[in-house]
Amino acid sequence: MSKQFDVIVIGGGPGGYIAAIRAAQLGKNVACVDEWKNSAGGPALGGTCTNTGCIPSKALLQSSEHFDHASHHFADHGIAVKGLSMDSAKMVARKDAVVKQNNDGILYLFKKNKVSFFHGRASFVKAVEGAALTGAAQGYEIKVAGAAEETLLAQQVIVATGSTARALPGAPFDETQVLSNEGALALTAVPKKLGLIGSGVIGLEMGSVWRRLGAEVTILEGLPTFLGAVDEQIAKEAHKAFVKQGLKIELGVTVGEVKVAKKGVSVAWTNAKGEAQKLDVDKLIVSIGRVPNTTGLNAQAVGLQLDERGAIVVDGDCRTNLPGVWAVGDVVRGPMLAHKAEEEGVAVAERIAGQHGHVNFNTIPWVIYTSPEIAWVGRTEQQLKADGVAYKAGTFPFLANGRARALGDTTGMVKMLADASTDEILGVHIVGPMASELIAECVVAMEFRASSEDIARICHAHPTLSESTREAALAVDKRTLNF
Ligand code: NAI
Repeated sequence: MSKQFDVIVIGGGPGGYIAAIRAAQLGKNVACVDEWKNSAGGPALGGTCTNTGCIPSKALLQSSEHFDHASHHFADHGIAVKGLSMDSAKMVARKDAVVKQNNDGILYLFKKNKVSFFHGRASFVKAVEGAALTGAAQGYEIKVAGAAEETLLAQQVIVATGSTARALPGAPFDETQVLSNEGALALTAVPKKLGLIGSGVIGLEMGSVWRRLGAEVTILEGLPTFLGAVDEQIAKEAHKAFVKQGLKIELGVTVGEVKVAKKGVSVAWTNAKGEAQKLDVDKLIVSIGRVPNTTGLNAQAVGLQLDERGAIVVDGDCRTNLPGVWAVGDVVRGPMLAHKAEEEGVAVAERIAGQHGHVNFNTIPWVIYTSPEIAWVGRTEQQLKADGVAYKAGTFPFLANGRARALGDTTGMVKMLADASTDEILGVHIVGPMASELIAECVVAMEFRASSEDIARICHAHPTLSESTREAALAVDKRTLNF
């Protein structure tokens, strides 16, 4: 006997679970299907973000930052620590507990919002019409395979199946020596030598965690430029800070054969000058991007259109080629960011309910949670040049900010870019302490199409890091007060 819903959401990550909650808030009868299992075989809602991404990586970043502070910075404050040690197993257990709180939190939210949860893998069976569906002319039959076998029916289906790590050809993930984000977050001991392929977001965040805990970290990056998508001035400043901390970053490399032995991994690579090199490490993290996850969805059974990368083809409103089928998050075009998936999930739920959901792709913030953090919104200086836009730039270094000095963290700057004639803010780029929090003000400003003068005239509390954003705005008009 099949169970009928108004909306079935496939995937319980940030895109899926948020879409399910929003649709339920709008009065829909909603089911969400997710197959992720915790170590006891139970449900682990929250997808990659909660289980092997944003949340566990931030837990480990926090632990490793505390250790780094105790090792290197407490002494500046007059705090002496004798016999400092790191229990990495305990650190990992804490991280697991944080993940579980988030998993359980989503289960609680489903109960609160009356979303029916099914633990298992969902796949399309067929499109159904008329008699099989009560109250709807057309819909879909979805099979759930898992702890309980179920057949579900709904007029509307939201696919939010996320993405999986892309493997290096010839070096499949074994998650003991060749690691994806999953294995990188499950290491229980600090590797002496750690190699990373790809100096993107995951490479830098994971490299930072394990370097702070004492690993010797080498990152091999294929592109000749460091963090090509980041504003050049900000990327340069970040590169300088990472190298100073001891991260070895090799740019413009070609990775060759990867040999996995009983103990350790050996990577043959060629440097930018074309010279053959070898990197021997205990563990290798491969972070060269992610691929949309549509395996097992049985998309062909209903004719759901995928592109050459395996992503579900959608329009600007997340509509697929099938009536009543939507897709959001990493499984569709656009940046693979949890908050972008959430925005799309909310907008789709609202469209299903007849409202006008909207996502502004121009104001999606980016954050790289390294130390210093890197965060930005809007266009970079190089993009403005390429687009032929006349702009003004203002920068303010944290070195001149009182709160940053008191914190003992004066690396980096805030950089604001504004239109040369209208003064509208076109982009804000930050490298430095708490950049992830500081960027929120800039996103709000850009959403409201503020000018740099607007930010310059707003009272910012003293002493705060946010004064640097105001000073960067003042710098656009060449009238900083503290620099
Ligand atoms: P990425 O796209 O950020 O970086 C991959 C890097 O690997 C690039 O710099 C690329 O040039 C390099 N690369 C690709 N192939 C290579 C090869 N064969 N040899 C050497 N270098 C190579 O991808 P990453 O770091 O794997 O992250 C995946 C996704 O997850 C990204 O879309 C990212 O936005 C998202 N993510 C976001 C986080 C955040 O918002 N803080 C945290 C972690 C992941």
